[in-house]
Amino acid sequence: MAELLTATDKRTHYCGTLSAGDIGAEVCVMGWAQKQRDLGALIFIDLRDRTGIVQLAFDDQTDREAFDKAFGVRAEYVLCAKGIVRSRSEGAINKTIPTGEVEIAVSELRILSSSETPPFEIVANSNVNAELRLRHRYLDLRRPDMQSNIIARSKITKIARDYYADNGFVDIETPNLCKPTPEGARDYLIPSRVHKGKFYALPQSPQLYKQLLMVSGFDRYFQIARCYRDEDLRDDRQPEFTQIDTEMSFVTADDVMKMHEGFLKKLLLEFSGIDMKEDFIRMPYAEAMERFGSDKPDIRFGFELCNLSDLLKDCGFKVFAGAIADGGSVRAINVKGGAKFSRKEIDSLVEFVKSYRAKGLAWLKWNESGEISSSYAKFLTEAENEAIKSAVGAEAGDLILIVADKNSVVFDSLGALRCECAKRLGLLDPFDFKFLWVTEFPLLEYSEEDGRYYAKHHPFTSPMDEDLQYIDSDPGRVRAKAYDIVLNGTELGGGSVRIHDAKIQSKMFSVLGLSKEETQEKFGYLLDAFKYGVPPHGGLAFGLDRLVTLMLGLEDIRDVIAFPKVQNASELMTRCPSEPDGKALEELGIAVVASEE
Ligand code: AMO
Ligand code: AMP
Repeated sequence: MAELLTATDKRTHYCGTLSAGDIGAEVCVMGWAQKQRDLGALIFIDLRDRTGIVQLAFDDQTDREAFDKAFGVRAEYVLCAKGIVRSRSEGAINKTIPTGEVEIAVSELRILSSSETPPFEIVANSNVNAELRLRHRYLDLRRPDMQSNIIARSKITKIARDYYADNGFVDIETPNLCKPTPEGARDYLIPSRVHKGKFYALPQSPQLYKQLLMVSGFDRYFQIARCYRDEDLRDDRQPEFTQIDTEMSFVTADDVMKMHEGFLKKLLLEFSGIDMKEDFIRMPYAEAMERFGSDKPDIRFGFELCNLSDLLKDCGFKVFAGAIADGGSVRAINVKGGAKFSRKEIDSLVEFVKSYRAKGLAWLKWNESGEISSSYAKFLTEAENEAIKSAVGAEAGDLILIVADKNSVVFDSLGALRCECAKRLGLLDPFDFKFLWVTEFPLLEYSEEDGRYYAKHHPFTSPMDEDLQYIDSDPGRVRAKAYDIVLNGTELGGGSVRIHDAKIQSKMFSVLGLSKEETQEKFGYLLDAFKYGVPPHGGLAFGLDRLVTLMLGLEDIRDVIAFPKVQNASELMTRCPSEPDGKALEELGIAVVASEE
């Protein structure tokens, strides 16, 4: 049974907008039946659209045909209802919903579509299994919390468009079928039918096109850009995601950071009602690592790292002294109030750091009552134990956690551990927005495995002028004009001032181990463009999905993406990726090699 809309069926109001001020008005609403209650002579239907719910009422005054139709309505039927807004009877007023004082006395009802019983109820905050939700994403997106997330995303995107347009940025689209742009992930490749055996790549970002737009003189560019990266997925990563991508000419790093800080402040004000006046903190990478063990520090709480290496290099405990002798370090965090963790919880923290390759976790728990228990104290002298307590500023009620290892492991594990402890102690308020810029990143990163350097940001990032002298003698020491914007422990965006000198760009390619021929083949067009007058330029890209997730106080990036992919990069609803139709592969000149499985 699917009735049609007639020429006079025009919606006058969204369901959730009706209030006592509308009493007496003749209205027409459309939406989905949340539920139907049949009390014999009375029938109520809660009608839902994306703005909320309104109650439809049918009684002995109601037109017989409308009453009979209402009798047959089930959850998720799509209805068009006309009638008069009236106040609810005294006992029926529901203060918990905005439309709770009124109802519509229906005179005409159309059932536009019926519905089978859905696999889960369409309500907010349901505990439905994630896979079931994603298989029926169109129903999941009907739930009020998902609707509000997706609508919030649209608002945030509009605030971004307005801000950048108001600041003279030109919105320019760049290709999706292109030559690979290195951002450090694997490419998604698209085979060419016309050029058999050749492939396009989907862009990991519009990086090189936006730089070329600067060469063209557009001066300020922005784009809400789709990016594609074939990498391992996590809660804050998707294989295709969206950037607010920007580039500016004739600027320094400071100009770029100020411009984007302006956007985030506008967003905070317009979206969250927070008027943030002070400038965001700027922190060099080396300081972020030293203090927080992370290049994306969460600065909502303390528990900063404390280097105990000088104190312990000659101690008698081999685990500590040995790590230092091998070129590593011993560092600690003091978890204020952490003595309330039970032995079992501390054991689980020991397991936690192991997933960051730490070989162990030494701990000292100093109860409120003054009693001390520890995994390491017995291996140290009284003086050494006292020195540790005073170095980390421990008091009764605290928990000292120590990792001894090579520096990268110490930073990774303690950096993650301080966040884990803060989470367990309930210290993390998602709406306490603490932004900071991390600056002066290393230009290059050495891979032990491959025995070569990789660009830490990307190969187009400019070295810091004062460090350029070390590019041959000590490449690892060179810092970059790169900056990340970090919010509550998440990297929200990143960018840099670019190399705009063909000689330095060629040098960079050679440091990265690319031969002249490879450079020409891969990036010849960029080096060519650099022959014809390049303005100094720089930019930044925000991860829009991450930005929306954090602004909404959520954790899973999938909750702000209409049709996300799961961990193994497939989409459960359409079941892609899938095998292509009959002749497609033949036309592309591609044969699939069957895998062992
Ligand atoms: P970068 O690689 O740092 O820089 O990316 C910028 C921002 O994009 C977001 N992001 C992601 N979001 C979701 N899923 C992913 N898989 C994913 N990968 C990255 C992050 C990140 O901070 N072209 C440069 C920018 C520039 O230099 O201007 C770039 O892409 O929030
Ligand atoms: P062991 O002598 O190996 O039993 O270690 C004594 C204590 O030191 C235990 O609490 C271990 O968890 C801890 N420990 C072991 N390796 C490390 C390490 N690399 N860093 C910090 N603590 C460690």
